[in-house]
Amino acid sequence: MYDGEMKPVRVLIIGAGSRGTAYSRYIDRHRDDAVVVAVAEPNEARRNRIAEMFSLPAENVRDDWSAAAAGPRLADAAIVATPDSLHVDPAIALAEKGYHILLEKPMAPNEADCRRIIQAVEDRGDIHLAVCHVMRYTRYTRTLKGIIDSGRIGEIVNVQHIEPVGYWHQAHSFVRGNWRSESESVFMLLAKSCHDIDWLRYIVARPCARVSSFGSLFHFKKANQPSGAADRCVDCGVEADCPYSARKIYMGMLAEGRTGWPLDVLVDGEVNAETIDEALRTGPYGRCVYACDNDVVDHQVVNVEFDGGATASFTMTAFNLAGGRKTRIHATRGEIYGDGRNITVTDFLTGQSETIDTAASDASISGGHGGGDDRIMDAFLTAVADNDSSAILSGPRETLETHLAVFAAERARRSGTVETLSA
Ligand SMILES: NC(=O)c1ccc[n+]([C@@H]2O[C@H](COP(=O)([O-])OP(=O)(O)OC[C@H]3O[C@@H](n4cnc5c(N)ncnc54)[C@H](O)[C@@H]3O)[C@@H](O)[C@H]2O)c1
Repeated sequence: MYDGEMKPVRVLIIGAGSRGTAYSRYIDRHRDDAVVVAVAEPNEARRNRIAEMFSLPAENVRDDWSAAAAGPRLADAAIVATPDSLHVDPAIALAEKGYHILLEKPMAPNEADCRRIIQAVEDRGDIHLAVCHVMRYTRYTRTLKGIIDSGRIGEIVNVQHIEPVGYWHQAHSFVRGNWRSESESVFMLLAKSCHDIDWLRYIVARPCARVSSFGSLFHFKKANQPSGAADRCVDCGVEADCPYSARKIYMGMLAEGRTGWPLDVLVDGEVNAETIDEALRTGPYGRCVYACDNDVVDHQVVNVEFDGGATASFTMTAFNLAGGRKTRIHATRGEIYGDGRNITVTDFLTGQSETIDTAASDASISGGHGGGDDRIMDAFLTAVADNDSSAILSGPRETLETHLAVFAAERARRSGTVETLSA
C-alpha cells in the first residue's frame, strides 16, 4: 500500500509492439508523471527501442515477460501489451507480485481466464487494474455521457451502433495480419468489438441481460479469389482491379506520406519504399486476401437487451471506407446522433437540434483512438500515483461483466440461441 502521492510512477513494459511502444511514447512525453524502468520483449529491435528511449540498465531489459516477473518487483506498475493469447499469465503473475496493471483488451481469450485475472487482482487487494477500453475515455464519450446523464433526452430506450472496420483495415489486421485466426488470437467480436459492447453498456448504464447474434466470414475466402489471381499481390495479374491489393493499400499510404501504423507493422526498421516492397514480397502482408489462413468473421450483428428493457443493435462490418463509429440513441424525450466527433442532440418538445463538435480545441484528439489512448494513460497513472482508482473507468468488475456479454454473444452466433446473462 502507498502513503500519499507517488510520482513519477515507475513502469514495466510487457510487450513492446505497437501498443507497448505507443504507451512508452506517452510516458516519454510525460516524464514528470511516469518513467519506464524496465521492458520485456522478445523482439530485439523493439526491446532496444524502449531501452534506448529510457536509457535502461541491461538487467532491466528482458526478452520474455516471465523473466521480468521473476525476482523482486522492478516497478510500481506494469503495462501488459502482449498478443491477445498472452495476457493471462503475465497479468496474474504481475498482480501476485503487487504491480498495478494496465492490461490491453481483450483480457483473455476465454471466460475462465478473464475470471482468473480478476480473481488475482481482487485477492491481492491493494492494486489498481485498468483494461484498455479506450473508447470510454475520449472527450466525445465524456460529452455524450454528460448529455445523457443530465436527463436532457430522457431515458434511453434503444441504441443503434455501427463499427465500420474498413475494407483495408479488415484486410490488414483480420485477413492478413495478427488477428486473422481465432486459434492464434481470438474471435473477431472479442478482438475488435469488445470495445463496442463495453461502450454500449457504459452509455446505457445498465448491464446486458440477453444477447443474440449473426455473422460469418462472407468474402475473404478462397472461393472468391478472382480467376487469374496469384497468391501474392506483387505476382498478381489482376491486382490492378482489386480494392484489397496490398500494393495499392500500403504503397498508397506511403505515397501519402504515412510511415506509422499500419506501415510500421510490416517492417521493424525504417519504413520506406524498399522495406515495404520487401515486406510485400516475403511477409504475410503481401498475401492475396483470398489465399490467407484467416477464419474470423468479416461482418457480425449483435442484438442486446439491457436490464430494465432498453435494447441495442450493433453492427460490425468490413465493407466500408472505415472511419468513426456511428451511433443513434433513441430516448423518451429526444434523440442523439453521434459520429465519433460530432454529437447532434434533438429535443422532441421543442423540435430544436444542437450539434456539438467534441474535437474543437481538443489537442489530444489527434492521439490514438480519438484521444482515448492518452486519457487512459493519464487515468491509470493518476490512480497509481494517488492510490485512488476513481479515475479508472474500465476497472475489473465492469470489464469482466462486458467481456462475459461478448462471450455470450459469440455463443449466440455459433449456436443460433438467445443467451441470457446472469445478474
Ligand atoms: N485498446 C485498443 O484499442 C487496442 C488497439 C490495438 C491492439 N490492442 C491490443 O493490444 C495488444 C497488443 O497489440 P499490438 O498491436 O501492440 O501487437 P504487437 O504484435 O505489435 O505487440 C505485441 C508484442 O508482444 C511481444 N511479445 C510476444 N511474446 C512476448 C513475451 N513472452 N513477453 C513479452 N513480450 C512478448 C511481441 O513480440 C510484440 O512485440 C493485443 O492484445 C491487442 O489486441 C488494443
